[in-house]
Amino acid sequence: MASLCFFSNVFTLHSPKCQSFTGSRLSSHFLNHQIKVNSFPHVNLSQPFKFSCKRFNPITASATTTIETSSYSFRNKNPKDINIVVVGSTGYIGKFVVKELINRGFNVIAISRERSGIRGKNDKEETLNQLQGANVCFSDVTNVETLQKNLENLGVSIDVVVSCLASRSGGVKDSWKIDYEATRNSLVAGRNRGASHFVLLSAICVQKPLLEFQRAKLKFEAELVKEAEEDNRFSYSIVRPTAFFKSLGGQVELVKDGKPYVMFGDGRLCACKPISEQDLASFIADCVLSEDKINQILPIGGPGKALTPLEQGEILFRLLGKEPKFLKVPIGIMDFAIGVLDFLVKIFPAMEDAAEFGKIGRYYAAESMLILDPETGEYSAEKTPSYGKDTLEEFFKRVLREGMAGQELGEQTIF
Ligand SMILES: NC(=O)c1ccc[n+]([C@@H]2O[C@H](COP(=O)([O-])OP(=O)(O)OC[C@H]3O[C@@H](n4cnc5c(N)ncnc54)[C@H](OP(=O)(O)O)[C@@H]3O)[C@@H](O)[C@H]2O)c1
Repeated sequence: MASLCFFSNVFTLHSPKCQSFTGSRLSSHFLNHQIKVNSFPHVNLSQPFKFSCKRFNPITASATTTIETSSYSFRNKNPKDINIVVVGSTGYIGKFVVKELINRGFNVIAISRERSGIRGKNDKEETLNQLQGANVCFSDVTNVETLQKNLENLGVSIDVVVSCLASRSGGVKDSWKIDYEATRNSLVAGRNRGASHFVLLSAICVQKPLLEFQRAKLKFEAELVKEAEEDNRFSYSIVRPTAFFKSLGGQVELVKDGKPYVMFGDGRLCACKPISEQDLASFIADCVLSEDKINQILPIGGPGKALTPLEQGEILFRLLGKEPKFLKVPIGIMDFAIGVLDFLVKIFPAMEDAAEFGKIGRYYAAESMLILDPETGEYSAEKTPSYGKDTLEEFFKRVLREGMAGQELGEQTIF
C-alpha cells in the first residue's frame, strides 16, 4: 500500500492501481486446478459442522444458512486441525504470514486473485509456487457472495481468519474498497463458515487518522470490536505495526551510487521502530493461539531503539564507509504542494487520488510511527513494544549486497 512510501523514495508516490477482477470472472475457478496441484492435503474434512438459524448480521446479501461456532474453542485443538483463512496472502506481509502459519503446523487456506502481486505480475502458477504448502483458493474478496460461495465449496469449517489485505495504492476509493469493504467481506464470509477469531493486520498510524485508508481501517476495527462485544464466542486481535523495512530501504541504492540521503526538516521530525516481514509474521501467527492477545489492540515495533530518518541515514553512510551527505528538504514544500493539489481537486475531482498521495507523503514525512499519547500529542519510543530480532542495519547490509528485490512498494508514479 501507499503508506510510508515517502520514506523510501522521497519523490515517489503510488499511482491508482490496476482494476480488480470481477466476481463473476473468478467464481467458477475456485480450487479446481489447485486441488489437483495441492491435493488439498491439510484441510480437516472431519471437522464437525453445526448448522443453525443464527445469521451474522452486517451485510450478507444472500441468505445462506450459517454455521454456529463450535461450543469448544479452536484453541484447544491441535494446530493441524485448525483451519485458517488468510486474505491478502500474496502481499509483502501476507506471504510471510502464510509461511509462518504453515511452519507452525496450521491448515492454511490462502485466498488469492488469479493474477496477484504488484500490477498483477504473478499468474496462477507463480502464485501457487509462492504459496506452497497452503491450500490456495482463487476468489474475489471484493465480492462477498463470491467469497462466501468459494469458502462454502471447500466443505470445511473455518476457525480463524487472518487479514493482511491492504489497498495497493492508498487511493481514496481503493482504500475504502479494500481496507474496509473487502476486509469486512472476509469477516462476514469467515463468520458464516464458523470462524471464531479474526486477526487483523492494521497500522500504528491509525492512532492519528488524517488519511482515507486510516479512516477505512478504523471503521473496520470498530466493527470487529463490536462483533466481539456482541458475541462472546468471537474474538479478535488487531495488530498495529510500525514501519516495514520496505518503506525505509528506497534510498539505499541511491546513496550507494553517491546521491545524498534526502530527509525532511532536520531529519528528526519523525521516528519509527522498523519491523521485518518475518518478525511481524511471527507476531501475527502468535495472535492465533496466544490467550493474552485475545480482544487486544496490539501496537508493535521491531527490536532496538526508535530511529529518526537522520539516524537511518547515518547507519547507511557508516555501512558504506562514506562521509554523510544529507539533503534537508523544508517540510513547507510539502505543505505548498498539498495546498495546490487541494485547490486543483476542487476543480478536477479526478485528481482526488493525487491530492491524497500528497497528504500521505506529508504524513509520513512528519509523523512518527510510535505510540501516541492522545492527551499530550507526543509520540513515545519507550511505550512502543518491541518484538523480533531483525534490525534495520542488517536489512540495509542485505540491500547493499543484494538490492531491493522483494521489497518493492507497489504501483508508483512520479509526484
Ligand atoms: N508499509 C508500511 O510500512 C506499513 C507499516 C505499518 C502497517 N502497514 C499495514 O500493513 C498492511 C499490509 O501491507 P503490505 O505491505 O503487506 O500490503 P501489500 O503488499 O500491498 O499487499 C496487499 C494485499 O492485499 C491484496 N489486495 C489489494 N487489493 C486487492 C483487490 N482489489 N482484490 C484482492 N486483493 C487485493 C493484495 O493482493 P494482490 O497480490 O492480488 O494485489 C495483497 O495480497 C496494510 O494494512 C498497511 O497499512 C504498512
